[in-house]
Amino acid sequence: METIRKAAGYITARIGEVPQTALVLGSGLGDFGKQLTEKTEIPYVEIPGFPASTVPGHAGKLIYGNLCGKPLLCLSGRFHFYEGYEMKEVAFYVQVLRTLGVQQLILTNAAGGIRTSFRPGDLMLITDHIKFFDTTPLRGSNVEELGPRFFDMSRAYTPELVEVARKAANETGVALREGVYAFMPGPCFETPAEIRMLRTLGADAVGMSTVPEVIAAAHCGMKVLGISCITNMAAGILNQPLSHEEVIETADNVKETFETLVKAILKQL
Ligand code: HPA
Repeated sequence: METIRKAAGYITARIGEVPQTALVLGSGLGDFGKQLTEKTEIPYVEIPGFPASTVPGHAGKLIYGNLCGKPLLCLSGRFHFYEGYEMKEVAFYVQVLRTLGVQQLILTNAAGGIRTSFRPGDLMLITDHIKFFDTTPLRGSNVEELGPRFFDMSRAYTPELVEVARKAANETGVALREGVYAFMPGPCFETPAEIRMLRTLGADAVGMSTVPEVIAAAHCGMKVLGISCITNMAAGILNQPLSHEEVIETADNVKETFETLVKAILKQL
């Protein structure tokens, strides 16, 4: 808790006012920080206790500023399990945000489409998730100050925010699919057999992020909204190999629509 408090104290001292909402910029929203005015940028390396980056030159940063007259904290760059971080480290920033006083967290990511009616470029509102991979960010002694040992996950994707996203999609005319996101550890994409298994289990999309953070957020009582950018059809659906290039290219193509939707959501919060 001491490490969390230290990091939160450092951020508060740098930004002053604490916003209600934080937005994690996944693929497709990488440039979103440019939309903020009166910005303060804090590289993660400067924040005490933040995990050290495994990618030199891509350390990630917090971008604090104003959007549509409201303060917003963006996280540009996140920590992935496949990079070698422990689950605790991946979710650390969520506990820091909560300690800062942030109340709602919008998580965005790139994902492979498992539902065959999805198309690359679709946006999917996450209504629930599946994680059966063994470890979890909250393994170990519980920090009672943050939340209880055992806690509910049935409303982890806050119904009220799901409604806000549906409304924003309606108003902006952005087609928003909905579905269940399955967490896989990566860094390899899944096999076709794994994708068939995930479909049988009820997953609509698959990705390598977000779920550890949602678990930590549910634990400490934060509201969560999750949106996936379906950058590719998951393994085995199309007769072609998956590539990171395809993920980047689709995310880039859908960028404006994604930004429109997220802005409309933020206006309503
Ligand atoms: N699988 C896992 N993670 C992903 C994918 C995928 O197909 N696409 C983008 N992130």
